[in-house]
Amino acid sequence: MLRKVTLLAAALVLVAGPAFAASEAKKPADIAFSYEGPFGTYDQAQLQRGYKVYREVCAACHSMNLLAFRNLADRGGPFYDSKYKNANDNPYAKAIAADTQINDLDSETGDAIQRPGTPADRFPNPYPNVIAAKAGNGGIAPPDLSVMAKARSGGPEYIAALLAGYTDPPAGVTLSPGLNYNPYFPGGLIGMAPPLAPDQVTFDDGTKSTVKQQATDVAAFLMWAAEPKLEERKQMGAAVLVFLVLFSGLLYASYRRVWRNESH
Ligand code: HEC
Repeated sequence: MLRKVTLLAAALVLVAGPAFAASEAKKPADIAFSYEGPFGTYDQAQLQRGYKVYREVCAACHSMNLLAFRNLADRGGPFYDSKYKNANDNPYAKAIAADTQINDLDSETGDAIQRPGTPADRFPNPYPNVIAAKAGNGGIAPPDLSVMAKARSGGPEYIAALLAGYTDPPAGVTLSPGLNYNPYFPGGLIGMAPPLAPDQVTFDDGTKSTVKQQATDVAAFLMWAAEPKLEERKQMGAAVLVFLVLFSGLLYASYRRVWRNESH
């Protein structure tokens, strides 16, 4: 009996061992993002740079279906300006949207047309459908990035490490066409070719455009996209704590008052 169990355990290790090794990915380095900690806020300049990286590089393949252009000008967003409480009036959101062609229908003839975007439009999808997305990328459709920073373990740190972490495959691993090696990707073989190169995006604020910088900034932007209300949530948390402290004091004082004349 014991021998049988040992044999079974050995067989399991043999079967599961390689599978485990294959899915073991390199751990992403920690990044001190400005929004971390109890009072952290997004760095607006970083979000603007990150948006530019998304728009000029990633948007060629990845949709962000949950985002509309006006969201860029919401409170806490890359182009928020307190002068424009209504994000639809924000000149940046308007200009960025107008720079995009949106598929629509002519309201009189029903013909398919293209028109310049408005802040109310969602980010356009680079592919008309998932079949085209697969066909354009060697059979693997690029996933939507709207909530990617929350969907992957490691979040923005993982995304930044992935984008800047491509290496040659280790000895013994041969890449089939369309696959690339990235030690941060579970399994190592990823369908996405290295998307970033030095100076690929010119940052308007003069920040040096290294691959690492682009990767970190776009990761921060994707974090904002996945959790745009993070700042409000933290502020609310702080306000609730202050309230609780005051309320406990008040309760204690009234307790003392109610039992003032009672002997214990
Ligand atoms: C040429 C097309 C292309 C471009 C440009 C591109 N990607 Fe990708 N990306 C892909 C494909 C295809 C996949 C799916 C890879 C797979 O699952 O093997 C992918 C996957 C991903 C993933 C998911 C990885 C995972 O854990 O599943 C992330 C995150 C990502 N891309 C981020 C980006 C960012 C950020 C940019 C811009 C800097 C970018 N990509 C640019 C094609 C692209």
